Amino acid sequence: MPNTLGRFTFRWRIWAAILYSLLVRVAVADLRYSVPEETKTKHIIGSLSKDLNLDPKSLRSRKARLDYQGDKRYCGVDLDSGHIFVLERIDREALCGTTPSCLLQFEFILENPLELHNVVLEVQDINDNAPVFPKDSIKLEISETAPTGSKFQISRARDVDIGRNSVQNYFLSQNKHFDLDARSSKDRYVDIVLKSNLDRETEGEHSLVLTAVDGGNPPRSGSVVILVLVQDVNDNAPVFSQSVYRAQLMENALPGTSVIHITATDVDEGANGQITYYINHLSESTKDLFQIDENSGEIEVNSQLDHERASSYEMEIQAEDGGGQTSHCKVMIEIVDVNDNAPVITVKSLMNPIPENIALGSEVAVLNVKDQDSGKNSRVSCSIPTNLSFKLQPSIKNYFTLTTATFLDREKVAEYNVTITATDAGTPPLLSTATLNIQVGDINDNPPVFDEQSYSAYVAENNKAGTSICSVTARDPDWRQNGTVLYSLLPSEVNGVPVSSFLSINADTGVIHAVRSFDYEQFRSLKVQVVSRDNGSPPLSSNATVSVFITDENDNSPQILYPAPEGKSLMTEMVPKAALSGSLVSKVIAVDADSGQNAWLSYRIVKSTDPGLFSMGVHSGEIRVQRDISESDSMKQNLVISVRDNGQPPLSATCSVYLLISDNLAEVPELKDMTYEEKSSKLTSYLIIALVSVSTFFLTFIILILAVRFCRRRKPRLLFDGAVAIPSAYLPPNYAEVEGAGTLRSSYNYDAYLTTGSHTSDFKFIRSYNDSTLPAGGTLRKSPDDSNIITFSDAGEALEVSSLD
Ligand SMILES: *[C@@H]1O[C@H](CO)[C@@H](O)[C@H](O)[C@H]1NC(C)=O
Ligand SMILES: *[C@@H]1O[C@H](CO)[C@@H](O)[C@H](O)[C@H]1NC(C)=O
Ligand SMILES: *[C@@H]1O[C@H](CO)[C@@H](O)[C@H](O)[C@H]1NC(C)=O
Repeated sequence: MPNTLGRFTFRWRIWAAILYSLLVRVAVADLRYSVPEETKTKHIIGSLSKDLNLDPKSLRSRKARLDYQGDKRYCGVDLDSGHIFVLERIDREALCGTTPSCLLQFEFILENPLELHNVVLEVQDINDNAPVFPKDSIKLEISETAPTGSKFQISRARDVDIGRNSVQNYFLSQNKHFDLDARSSKDRYVDIVLKSNLDRETEGEHSLVLTAVDGGNPPRSGSVVILVLVQDVNDNAPVFSQSVYRAQLMENALPGTSVIHITATDVDEGANGQITYYINHLSESTKDLFQIDENSGEIEVNSQLDHERASSYEMEIQAEDGGGQTSHCKVMIEIVDVNDNAPVITVKSLMNPIPENIALGSEVAVLNVKDQDSGKNSRVSCSIPTNLSFKLQPSIKNYFTLTTATFLDREKVAEYNVTITATDAGTPPLLSTATLNIQVGDINDNPPVFDEQSYSAYVAENNKAGTSICSVTARDPDWRQNGTVLYSLLPSEVNGVPVSSFLSINADTGVIHAVRSFDYEQFRSLKVQVVSRDNGSPPLSSNATVSVFITDENDNSPQILYPAPEGKSLMTEMVPKAALSGSLVSKVIAVDADSGQNAWLSYRIVKSTDPGLFSMGVHSGEIRVQRDISESDSMKQNLVISVRDNGQPPLSATCSVYLLISDNLAEVPELKDMTYEEKSSKLTSYLIIALVSVSTFFLTFIILILAVRFCRRRKPRLLFDGAVAIPSAYLPPNYAEVEGAGTLRSSYNYDAYLTTGSHTSDFKFIRSYNDSTLPAGGTLRKSPDDSNIITFSDAGEALEVSSLD
């Protein structure tokens, strides 16, 4: 409304002015002046008197005055000159604001006659105001993700001046990111446009200066500082300093040991740049082994590591910022082996026991040696003491074989403790040992061995059956039954009788017993082979000789062969009357079946008719005439002779010798009475006839045999075998001696004794005991008849037959 009103007024004034100039001196005329604002006071704007054709002198009298409707007066009239002048400061902006034409209406009033003139004063604008922004500085927060082309409105600057003196242009300080929007409308805002992307991380703040310039002359300007704060967006993921981290760690690292420090950076700020670390465990196994400090990225050992379980670990580490952006890196942790495992020895196979005859180089045991460590720490060497009979040899891979290096002998070493030492090559090395107890099994490789190769035992005759004679021992070092010794006698025969009927041996103890009572007079020694045999399979045996010597006891009294004991035969010796002293009259012959001292006989005259006449050879048994026989001596002489052996106690026998001192047998008629007194003459004559015929036959036979023997010398024994068939009586051995070596003289003695020079000589056949002619029944029997002498009392000559085989 004021505008339309103004326009109307303006138009009206133009019409009025035109009218005024046409009508010349119209009482009411409008005067028009112009003055720039802010003109100094007393500045003369124009001359009213001149313009109104007024006499300036009349002004005072006519009370001329300039009226202004308002508080201020702005202009006045100089009553002396009629000039209109500036009375007060005129500020166009205060008076008219932004109105383009600023007119001040005055009324010039004169009185007498009253005249009224309108005076219009146009206040011209001058550029006295600079553009001003509403604020000195503007903070603009822009997200770094704002797209290019985004517009941001800035309040315009205000310039109270008008027209050209108002803001004409804006300028933005030079920068990379922003521009003014050329097309922005002229009203309230200026737009700045984002021309390139912001990045808080490169530059978080931008300071722009927006300048507004007016069109005055000189122009004035005002500016505002625009502080662009780039707002962070979580547009950056954390970034690891390396994509792969490698670390080495000793396997004996204690929990808490730092492994590696992972760092990731996030250029975002605040929470967006706050990184937390996690381990993305790739396998369950690593879960408890490592932990990471969420904030610092320090990886630590969490529990006991073991190179032997895993020699390396691979983990993925995740770094996450507050905005949830993540990135990953890999951590490879190599676990360095520490020599913490001793080698382990395992016996894979073991031959136990091993036979003692095992071949050289045989495999006894197979061992496996393992060290869980790696590299040098797992390199194992194995050894055994060198003094054993074994060798340890490396075989394939971790295997070792134990073989025999020498021949074994259980009897020397029955058991081996083989200690195997395994050492690894670590520093310090670790070692372990295993002991194999190897038993050597027995093989029956040793025969029993007798303590002596031959044993001698002495046993007195007449021993009791079952007496132990001696014992033999054989030793066998083998084991158990292979070393159990059993004794036995090697079957053999003694005089055709199995040796078992003489001796027996205790199979277990080796004690030899007599099975029966021995008789020295039957045989004097026995030789037997004792066999010791072990219980192995096959058994081994050895033998030894046992010689049993039977020692003599004085169990046989002397036996007088000649003269025959009393009552058996009548023997009378003839002593010639002319026998001189010292001449041999007769001889007592006695034998003793014993031997040695027991058979050493001594002869004594116990009783005699004439003690001084005859003497006795103590050992020879010879009866000699001690002095010359005289006529006065009795014709019949009787001697009682005692024969005694030298045994302890001694045994003796007596006999009587009848001597007849005569030169003629017929001279002694009473002799017949003396000898045949109670015998039946008839019986005697029969007997004599029988004996004579037998002896004749026998003699013939002997002569025959002798003849044969001379022809066939080679078979002398056969002859005698035949010869001995006749007298079946058992006769004791005579004078057989134990020879120096103690062996039984193996001769057969056949002795026949006949006294020489006696018409009543007996023929005696004495057959010695002979081993080889023992009866097959194995027992030696004495003939029931104690008589062992066959006497041929009427034999005309003495015959001695001696046969040595
Ligand atoms: C072997 O070791 C065993 C057990 O330690 C022991 O009884 C035995 O006497 C040892 N043998 C040898 C031959 O060292
Ligand atoms: C005895 O020796 C044999 C081999 O000669 C052997 O087989 C056996 O085992 C041995 N007996 C014992 C008890 O050692
Ligand atoms: C007794 O042993 C010897 C050697 O030891 C041997 O030559 C002999 O044949 C053995 N005799 C018997 C009957 O076994």
